[in-house]
Amino acid sequence: MANNFKTAIITGGARRIGAAICRRLHQNNINLLVHYNSSKDDAKKLEAELSAKRKNSITIISADLIKRNECEKLIKTCNEIYGRIDILINNASTYYPTKIGDISETHWDDLLGVNLKAALFLSQSAAPFLKKTKGSIINITDANIDNPKKDYSVYSLAKAGLINLTKSLAKDLAPYIRVNSIAPGPIIWPDSNQSFDEAYKKTVIDQTLLKRTGEPDDIAKAIEYILAAEYITGHNLKVDGGRSV
Ligand SMILES: NC(=O)c1ccc[n+]([C@@H]2O[C@H](COP(=O)([O-])OP(=O)(O)OC[C@H]3O[C@@H](n4cnc5c(N)ncnc54)[C@H](OP(=O)(O)O)[C@@H]3O)[C@@H](O)[C@H]2O)c1
Repeated sequence: MANNFKTAIITGGARRIGAAICRRLHQNNINLLVHYNSSKDDAKKLEAELSAKRKNSITIISADLIKRNECEKLIKTCNEIYGRIDILINNASTYYPTKIGDISETHWDDLLGVNLKAALFLSQSAAPFLKKTKGSIINITDANIDNPKKDYSVYSLAKAGLINLTKSLAKDLAPYIRVNSIAPGPIIWPDSNQSFDEAYKKTVIDQTLLKRTGEPDDIAKAIEYILAAEYITGHNLKVDGGRSV
């Protein structure tokens, strides 16, 4: 399937913000390796939608990114299929409360594993390929991390670690590979999470300067910007309607 189009790997790309990122990169004539974990039906729908627009431009692959060997396999497979890797978007995430007193090692392994460890091992495996293409890594963090949400300590420290990892990788992989992160504010509410009742959602929206949530495509547009802005590296770009101000 090798051709001259640039290639991007998007983790957790089958739905929600990940799918918006896939659609916008695809519009920019970028070929996609879309990773999913459990959302096979959504991944297949996205594959059908984008293949209809451009043949041989999307491959979907499932992997449990908590496992380091699955991270490494994903990167190898992308290179085998497309013959190049230009962009790695670490978007996959797990997100739920972990109340002090109830935190288990499983919570730790899952929240740190998907949000932080996977980004490190995917980046490490992709680095030799990205070096060849002078590529980019973009990690999806969270704009609310300096003021962590109550009862979300494990998720918050995973995303804080991801912001720090972004800076470390920017140094370690310079001058060949740019590494940045994008920090969403309230974009799309979690599918099932009891801490997001209507009163809480209203409070969050009131805290934004723009008095509304963003759209998944706002994150995709920020990615488009970072990819074009070739003198930016080591940066964490907040896309949060001014909530953190
Ligand atoms: N939504 C917001 O408003 C918001 C706010 C702040 C930050 N963010 C960040 O923006 C990014 C996208 O947000 P989102 O709400 O669209 O994300 P999300 O739906 O919570 O998660 C994205 C994907 O991560 C994948 N995932 C979960 N566990 C996995 C595992 N063990 N291995 C591999 N993949 C796994 C899932 O894939 P499958 O569905 O295929 O299982 C899921 O669809 C995330 O990094 C999130 O932290 C979002």
